[in-house]
Amino acid sequence: MSENIKYPFLDLATVNAPYIEELHRAAGSIIDSGRYVGGPEVEAFEKSLAADTGTAFAVGTANGLDALRLIIRAYIELGRLKAGDEIIVPANTYIASILAITDCGLIPVPVEPRTDTLNLDTSLIENAITPATRAIMTVHLYGRACHDATLMEIAKRHNLLVIEDNAQAIGARSRLNNRRTGSLGDAAAFSFYPTKNIGALGDAGAVTTDDAELAAAVRALANYGSDRRYHNIYRGLNSRLDPLQAAFLNIKLKHLDEENALRAAIADIYEKEISNPRVIKPLYSAGGDMVWHQYVVMTEDRDGFRDYLLKNGVQTDVHYATPPHRQPCYADLLGKLSLPVTDTIADQVVSLPVTRCTSEDDARAIARIINSYVND
Ligand SMILES: Cc1ncc(COP(=O)(O)O)c(C=O)c1O
Repeated sequence: MSENIKYPFLDLATVNAPYIEELHRAAGSIIDSGRYVGGPEVEAFEKSLAADTGTAFAVGTANGLDALRLIIRAYIELGRLKAGDEIIVPANTYIASILAITDCGLIPVPVEPRTDTLNLDTSLIENAITPATRAIMTVHLYGRACHDATLMEIAKRHNLLVIEDNAQAIGARSRLNNRRTGSLGDAAAFSFYPTKNIGALGDAGAVTTDDAELAAAVRALANYGSDRRYHNIYRGLNSRLDPLQAAFLNIKLKHLDEENALRAAIADIYEKEISNPRVIKPLYSAGGDMVWHQYVVMTEDRDGFRDYLLKNGVQTDVHYATPPHRQPCYADLLGKLSLPVTDTIADQVVSLPVTRCTSEDDARAIARIINSYVND
């Protein structure tokens, strides 16, 4: 880390420091066990995640992108989706949401976000529906639960599947019904990428659902398409949750609410203490519907703002500077779409430090630095 960084954006060693002895013990016990694929740690994690989320089933996967792909593949195998079907998806998302759709041969239909939540603008969904629409993929971006009554009503009326991309919002609860994200739609994908609110020490993911058939199909697809040993009912892939990562996640999942509370305390300080009119703060919620995976502000001169912060020791990040429809890999499919709200967001967002690496005093100091920023 560069010397002049007094307030790092994120340092994973610090994030994992409270659990370090347990993590070492867990690694040792997996190494000693001689069981390196599947096993009790994976089963225990799936059980805890399902209980925590409030779903009947959880199936571990190798990562979050695969969790999304496996959900769509499973719906295809079950005859509920097919190649060429359209899935409505927020335009302002991480590219993995879109990759999962196109990888399965379906068509993503990006819909603009709201300017306050930066999440899907559900009032625009109806207009995006065509005879080919079969599903809505919601993304609880930055940690904010995004389902609302409009979304649920439209999904029901048009008989659309609701697939949650819950990579960023583990532990959040919907204002709609106080249920946890991951239990709000028909199926949900989780990512435990190391930077997530509950992160593994490598790649890991999971699917949650109440649908027994879907859970079984995801489990088989993630294991070469096999429902029992050497019997392949699908042309599957190998995307199982690694027991070492499951063992780490079993330790960390117990601290989910505590980890989210730490982030909420930092966000609360930013909300109260940042008062620079050049910096638009995120829509604040002290409710559990926002777990502050990122604390994202917007400012017109992003580069100038970030340079100023860095000169003052504050490291920031951007999620995301290039939205999926502007990525070279989607130039043909999405490149001609006009998505001005998403483009503006991509030009102006800055993520401030909001993890265990930032103390409450640090957050106050960062707010003071931000308040003295002048754009001339
Ligand atoms: C919104 C979103 N969806 C999907 C993913 C994919 O997860 P993973 O990195 O575990 O494949 C991520 C995280 O990287 C994400 O932020």
